[in-house]
Amino acid sequence: MGNYTLGIIKPDAISKNYTGKIIDRLLNSGFKIVAARLEHLSREQAKQFYAVHKERPFFNDLINFMTSGPCLPFVIEHENAVENFRKIIGATNPAEAAKGTIRRDFAESIQNNAVHGSDSDKNAEKEIAFFFIPSQIHTV
Ligand code: CMP
Repeated sequence: MGNYTLGIIKPDAISKNYTGKIIDRLLNSGFKIVAARLEHLSREQAKQFYAVHKERPFFNDLINFMTSGPCLPFVIEHENAVENFRKIIGATNPAEAAKGTIRRDFAESIQNNAVHGSDSDKNAEKEIAFFFIPSQIHTV
């Protein structure tokens, strides 16, 4: 199990000024931020990042949403990072997310769901490399 995962604070949460509250949650849960950068994704970048979903009916709306404003991709460190981060963000659909999770408290809908978290170590590695080069990742 890897020690790093990729998260994104999505445009809905950024525009509602939830950035600080979401960062506070993950720091209080023992995650350490090792990289972060505000980004306004181009359509090409968003399509590439979400390429696995390109056949899904929600793909075009997802790209519109993810390019609607800046987002904040970050790399965080924790033992078993992927699983532990997914636990604190909650289910994709905020209506199904457990009490006290980030999506339950800050997400609007299944699409505008406040945060992204990698779903496996393999994808975490790919998604970290999508946003950051090694010199931008400040591990000790
Ligand atoms: P995320 O975990 O970033 O991965 C894919 C994204 O697609 C998801 O969060 C949502 O923002 C969006 N999405 C929109 N509709 C759906 C759906 N029906 N099922 C899963 N993801 C959806």
